[in-house]
Amino acid sequence: MLGANSFAGRRKSLYLCLAFAAAVICFLNLIFLTRTVDHTTLRLPGLSFFRPQHKHLEGTYARDQHPISDLMNEANRRWQQYEQSRSTSFRETVAKYRETYGRHPPPGFKEWYQYARKHNVHNVDDFQQITGDLRPFWAVSPKEIRQMAARLQQSPGIAGVRVRDHKVVSHSEGWRVETLAAAVDRLAEYLPDMDIAMNTMDQPRVMATYEDIQNHLQVEESTRAIPEDAADQFTQGMDGFYNEEAGVNEDLDPGWFSVAGKPYMDFAKEACPPNSPARGSNLTLQDADKLYKSSYGDFVSNFTGSSDLCIVGPELGDKHGFLFSASSNVITRKLLPVFGECKVSVNNDILFPANMYFLKDPRYVYNSKHDFEWEDKTDSLLWRGVTSGGIQVEDNWFKLHRQRFVRMANATEMDLEKVSILSKDSREQYQIVDDFRPSDFATSYFDVGFTEAWGCIPDCHFYEGVWTYKEPKAFSEQFKAKYLVDIDGHSFSGRWRAFHQSKSLGLKATIFREWHDSRLFAWRHFVPMDNQYGDLYSLMTYFIGLHPSASEDPLPSHGPSVPRHDFEAEVIAAQSREWAHLALRDEDLEIYLYLLLLEYGRIVDDNRDNIGYSGDGSELDHFDAQHPFPQALQPLVDG
Ligand SMILES: *[C@@H]1O[C@H](CO)[C@@H](O)[C@H](O)[C@H]1NC(C)=O
Ligand SMILES: *[C@@H]1O[C@H](CO)[C@@H](O)[C@H](O)[C@H]1NC(C)=O
Ligand SMILES: *[C@@H]1O[C@H](CO)[C@@H](O)[C@H](O)[C@H]1NC(C)=O
Repeated sequence: MLGANSFAGRRKSLYLCLAFAAAVICFLNLIFLTRTVDHTTLRLPGLSFFRPQHKHLEGTYARDQHPISDLMNEANRRWQQYEQSRSTSFRETVAKYRETYGRHPPPGFKEWYQYARKHNVHNVDDFQQITGDLRPFWAVSPKEIRQMAARLQQSPGIAGVRVRDHKVVSHSEGWRVETLAAAVDRLAEYLPDMDIAMNTMDQPRVMATYEDIQNHLQVEESTRAIPEDAADQFTQGMDGFYNEEAGVNEDLDPGWFSVAGKPYMDFAKEACPPNSPARGSNLTLQDADKLYKSSYGDFVSNFTGSSDLCIVGPELGDKHGFLFSASSNVITRKLLPVFGECKVSVNNDILFPANMYFLKDPRYVYNSKHDFEWEDKTDSLLWRGVTSGGIQVEDNWFKLHRQRFVRMANATEMDLEKVSILSKDSREQYQIVDDFRPSDFATSYFDVGFTEAWGCIPDCHFYEGVWTYKEPKAFSEQFKAKYLVDIDGHSFSGRWRAFHQSKSLGLKATIFREWHDSRLFAWRHFVPMDNQYGDLYSLMTYFIGLHPSASEDPLPSHGPSVPRHDFEAEVIAAQSREWAHLALRDEDLEIYLYLLLLEYGRIVDDNRDNIGYSGDGSELDHFDAQHPFPQALQPLVDG
C-alpha cells in the first residue's frame, strides 16, 4: 500500500513538475509573442527551441486555385530541399565541395569552416556564386590575372586593395574601397598576398562574349583534379603584384570602351547563347515570357529568368534606364578580374557583398525599434525614390524603369487605362479579366512617388506637371506599410536587406544580381515582380483583395472580385524576416567575403592545380561535436 501510495505521490509530483514546466514555457512564449523585441537580445543559451524572433502564425492558407498558391508551395518545396540538404559536418562539407566542383576546397578552408560555424553560418555549402564567378578564370594563367589585377588599379573607375603579409598595406581612396579595405583587413590574417581590383562605378564592367566564356568553362572542366597530395597552403614570394616603385605593366590593355548612351543589348547579345531571344531566336515575345512566367496569370515563376537579359533583354531593352540611358557605362570584352557589387546576367564581374551593407548608414540599416507588427501596418503599397536610373531627356524619360513604375501606380495616370488581373467567378474559379480599371484601387492602396528630380539633361523642366513630389520617408515611416516595393536605381538597391529584415513584405523587380541571390527564394522570402510591372495590379489585388463595386443589381455581381490574401502576405513577410536574421546577417557578409578571397587567392596562385585542402575532414570531428549544427527551421504555419 505504502509503496503504491508513494508511487502515486511521486507521479503526482511529476505531473505537477511537468505542469509547472509547461506553464513556464507557456509564460515565456507569451512574453516573446506579445512583445516587440529585438531578436538579438533573445539569444538565450539553452532556449534554442524557442524561435523568439517569430511567432507561430495562426491561420490557414486559402486553399484556392490561384496560381500564387502554387508558386508559394513550389518555393517552399524547393526551400525545404535546400534546408534539408545542408552539410552537417566538416567531413560532409568537404565531400560535397569535391562532388560539386570536382576540386579540393582552397587552402585555408578548414579555418574558414571553423570561422563560419563559430559565426553561426546557416548553410555552409551555398557559395556557388563564388565558384561560378571564378570558374572562367581557370582558363587564364595565374600570373596574367595577378598582373592584370595590378594594372587595373590604374584604370579609371577601378580602385585597389593590396594584401601583403596578412595585412592590408595600402588601398586607393574613396568610401567604397575604404569600406572594402577595412573588411578585408579584418580577414587578412587568413589571406595570402593579393591585389583586389574593385569597380567604383555604379555599372558592372566585364562582358566577355558567350563563345569565349564557353571556351573558358571547357578549359576549367578539363583541369579539374583532386590530387591526393595537394598542399594546404598558398605559394609564397610570387611576382606580378602591384608595386608602387616598379609601376605596373602598361602593355596590358584592359580593352575598355564606353557603351553609355548606346543600346546595351546591342553589346549584351554577344554574351548570350546563339539560340536565345537576345541573339535573335525566332521565339515570339510571348514564348520568351513563358520561360519565366507562370502558365496562368503571368506571375514571375522563375526570378532568375526574369532578370536574364538573354531572355528579357529584347523586351526590356528600351524599358530600363540601365539598358538605354546609363549615365556612364565602360565595359570590356576581356575577362578581367574585377570585383563588383552587382552585375547583370551577361557580366563576368566577381561579386562581393556591396560596401553599402558594411556601413551603418541609417538610411539602409534596419532597426526593429522602428518597425510595427503586421496587424498594425496599413494595407498599402509604398515606394519613394529619386528619378535616378539613367540620364533623362525630354523624349526618353517616360521609358525609364522608375518613371514607368511611378506612372503605373498613379491613379490619375491610370484613370483611362485597363489592366489584366485574375478575378474569382461565381463558380469559384479564377479567370483572367482584361479590362480592370485600376484607378480606384491605386487611390485607395498605393502611396508611390518621387521625392525629387535628378539626372536630367539639360535640366528637369519637362517634369513640370508630371509628378507631385512627395516627402521622403525614413524607414520608421516606410515600415508602417505592409507592402514595400524595391526597384533598381542606377544599379542595385541598397534597401533590400532592410526590407527583408523588416516585418513588411518586399516586392522586387530588378535586372541586377547580387552576392546573396541563391539564398533568397522568390515566393518564400519575397514577392517577385516583373520588370515590366504588368503583374502589379494582379499581385496587389490578390494580397489586398478586391470587392465588386456596389450595384443595384445583386446578381451577377458587378466587376471583378478577388478574395483577400492578407495571411499569405504576412506569412511571406515573416519567413523573409526570419531568414534574413539567419542568412543576411553582418556575419554572413564576412563569411562570404572570406571564402571569396580564399578562392580568389587560389585562382591567382601559380600552383593552383596542386594546392587545396586534401584531407577527409576528420580533423574537425571534435570541433563539430562541440558546435552542433543549426537546426532546420520548423514551418511558421501549420501544414
Ligand atoms: C524556330 O526555329 C527552330 C529551329 O531553329 C524551328 O525548329 C522552329 O520550327 C522555328 N519556330 C518558328 C515558330 O518558326
Ligand atoms: C530559371 O531561369 C534560369 C535563367 O534563365 C535558368 O538557367 C533556369 O534553368 C531556370 N530554372 C527553372 C527551374 O526553370
Ligand atoms: C499623377 O499623375 C498626375 C497626372 O499626370 C500628376 O498631376 C500627379 O502629380 C501625379 N502624382 C504623383 C504622385 O506623381
